[in-house]
Amino acid sequence: MEITKALKEDHKELKSMLDTINSSEDAVEIRTTFEAFAELLGKHSKAEEKVVYDALIGTGDDETEVDAHEGYTEHMLADTLLKKLKAGTDPLSAEWRAEAQVMQEILEHHIKEEEDTIFDDVKDNFESNEREEMGAAFEKLKEAVAV
Ligand SMILES: [Fe+2]
Ligand SMILES: [Fe+2]
Repeated sequence: MEITKALKEDHKELKSMLDTINSSEDAVEIRTTFEAFAELLGKHSKAEEKVVYDALIGTGDDETEVDAHEGYTEHMLADTLLKKLKAGTDPLSAEWRAEAQVMQEILEHHIKEEEDTIFDDVKDNFESNEREEMGAAFEKLKEAVAV
């Protein structure tokens, strides 16, 4: 699958899981959805860094490199919040709910920037056959990476 298409599929799933997490009142449903969310986010982000961001950093184009480093920085922020959420014991507590809402805000911003900017960087720097290969590498790495 072409890399931007593969990324977009995950983005859609991540956003939908966050909607469930932030609208449900059922602690079991929130916890189950959060576990799946944490696993997908971890795998997606690690594979995206290696296959997409590192390739963009390798282009040598200044603006493209900044976009990729911005992605790394946002992943780091999301990861910090993910660790806090994982450590929380009550998904119905005010604190956990607030953190989950901020996670949604951060990720919606991050995903929008990826789809608006990173996708263009990828299309500007890599031919269609290369983007297909990146998609295959992304799927493979996602399976292999431990989170
Ligand atoms: Fe992404
Ligand atoms: Fe990302």
